[in-house]
Amino acid sequence: MSENKKKLLIITGVAGMVGSTLLPKMLSKKNSIVVGIDNFRLGKHKFIKKFLNKKNFFFLKADLDKKINKLGYQFKLNSLKTIKETINNISKKTLF
Ligand SMILES: NC(=O)c1ccc[n+]([C@@H]2O[C@H](COP(=O)([O-])OP(=O)(O)OC[C@H]3O[C@@H](n4cnc5c(N)ncnc54)[C@H](O)[C@@H]3O)[C@@H](O)[C@H]2O)c1
Repeated sequence: MSENKKKLLIITGVAGMVGSTLLPKMLSKKNSIVVGIDNFRLGKHKFIKKFLNKKNFFFLKADLDKKINKLGYQFKLNSLKTIKETINNISKKTLF
């Protein structure tokens, strides 16, 4: 693989605590292109505002439960309350 090959990184829940902390670290990686997804249900626009003008950052306001449902596998790191609640909300279709 070429040294200069772009690396696409996707951060779900990017406007949340973990996502917005991870974001600047990923943007600073060499050759990275970061796509951040959040529906702002719990996340805050102010947490990602200063990164929106970065040329290697693309933000998508979307609900992962509705928009991205055609993937074979989806690893969900966004949650609304607890890990248990998240697991209970994952449909079989998402898993298999
Ligand atoms: N914060 C911690 O100490 C900690 C520890 C262990 C595990 N975790 C897990 O890591 C993950 C992130 O934690 P966090 O503290 O950043 O939570 P958070 O609530 O701050 O961030 C989650 C983000 O996901 C977004 N989101 C939720 N449902 C969405 C959907 N359907 N589509 C698009 N966006 C959606 C929310 O708007 C929010 O911005 C969670 O799954 C959490 O359980 C967190």
